[in-house]
Amino acid sequence: MSAVDHARATGLFAPDAFAGRVVLVTGAGRGIGKLLAERLAALGARVALCDIVGDRAQATARGIAETGGEALALTVDVAAEGDVERAAGAVLARWGRVDVLVNAAGSYGAAYRVTHETPVEEWDSVFASNVRGSFLCAKAVLPHMVAAGGGRIINFASNAGRSVSPLLGCSYTAAKTAVIGMTRHLSREYARYGILVNTIAPGPVEGERVSGLLRDAEESETLSGQIPIGRLAEPADIVDVVLFMASDASRYMTGAILDVSGGLILA
Ligand SMILES: NC(=O)c1ccc[n+]([C@@H]2O[C@H](COP(=O)([O-])OP(=O)(O)OC[C@H]3O[C@@H](n4cnc5c(N)ncnc54)[C@H](O)[C@@H]3O)[C@@H](O)[C@H]2O)c1
Repeated sequence: MSAVDHARATGLFAPDAFAGRVVLVTGAGRGIGKLLAERLAALGARVALCDIVGDRAQATARGIAETGGEALALTVDVAAEGDVERAAGAVLARWGRVDVLVNAAGSYGAAYRVTHETPVEEWDSVFASNVRGSFLCAKAVLPHMVAAGGGRIINFASNAGRSVSPLLGCSYTAAKTAVIGMTRHLSREYARYGILVNTIAPGPVEGERVSGLLRDAEESETLSGQIPIGRLAEPADIVDVVLFMASDASRYMTGAILDVSGGLILA
């Protein structure tokens, strides 16, 4: 089912729930960010798609345009300040505002290996894309949200940041924990400006990322067996919660860390 059909079929959100809103989604070329961008566009939002792999962002934007949506694809390394400033400038030039920022981009290094065998380059790149990237994107849009009298920032943590990653190393666990700390700090700082800052902490999700990390069907079954709901999330399970976090339904929520992990994390 296409994102547009899914959005209409579920009926969870009115077809114009995000009409006129400008949403910047990082990591929008693949996985959760891609589906989120498609769903937002199907619900009326104008969506800026940022990804370090520009072709992926372009392809997603083309798909959105073909179904009548409004999208702007941008090649952005979220860890590069110049890229992020250019991207924010392009969005403001096109649409004049940013109502919602979703920081979904992030790299994750190699499959699990012990900390003393982790190259420092992996630590740096995981922190750069997840932590520095979320910080830089927030920094770029916050002045405009303050001037506009409000906005939303939605960060992506993980079950890893709420406990310990079952699939990835120390760098990922630590980076996602830092994203939670940054969310809490920003939420306190900017509530007075009407800017709400929250984090979703998904458990393992079906898709290219996780399938690339699991060695075989047995490992996949073992992982599912650890999840009380008995299966990995589908991207739509995560996207629906992010849509709630971006919508007016969550207007009194800031500084929250939402575990969407099928019961894996109980905190
Ligand atoms: N998939 C999961 O099981 C899972 C679980 C918990 C949390 N998460 C988090 O959810 C978010 C989305 O996950 P996903 O599975 O859709 O990821 P994914 O790996 O499928 O896609 C991530 C996208 O981000 C882009 N990206 C990576 N580094 C970037 C950078 N420096 N600048 C710009 N773009 C960059 C990639 O090119 C890719 O298109 C991530 O923050 C991830 O850590 C995922």
